[in-house]
Amino acid sequence: MAFQLTPEREQQLPEILARYPTKMAACLPLLHLAQEQNGWVSDDVIAYVAERLELSAAHVFGVATFYSLYHTHPVGKHHVWVCRTLSCALNGADAIVAHCEERLGIHVGETTADGQVTLHTAECLASCGTAPMMQIDCEYHENLSPEKVDVLLDRLRQS
Ligand code: FES
Repeated sequence: MAFQLTPEREQQLPEILARYPTKMAACLPLLHLAQEQNGWVSDDVIAYVAERLELSAAHVFGVATFYSLYHTHPVGKHHVWVCRTLSCALNGADAIVAHCEERLGIHVGETTADGQVTLHTAECLASCGTAPMMQIDCEYHENLSPEKVDVLLDRLRQS
């Protein structure tokens, strides 16, 4: 079945379009709105955004695959992003990633069998002074240790 926004989200569309000089410029927020509803950017979502913004599906697909915060395959309910750039790398990011993989039973890029968590690595998340750090959904968690990670992941698996 073709993707449609819920009536509540559909009501947000005119306000989003009014913020920009062209429909094309609303591609990012509309993709965000659709992903928020669908969980990921499926082919149906791409077709929907393309039709609503009078763009080609190839253009929308190019946008969705350029930005790492759009998911072009099914993902978990929660996202764990472990920063792997210099400050975090020098302060143990590899060990944090390995610890997450072991605790979650998945590798980077995979989702737990219960669909709760997808594990990612990220480039610098601009919290270098509190390395190593990770972002879980929209929140930063800093000065990580394996013990802190255990608490965070246990909390996530129960939410
Ligand atoms: S290097 Fe990790 S937040 Fe900047």
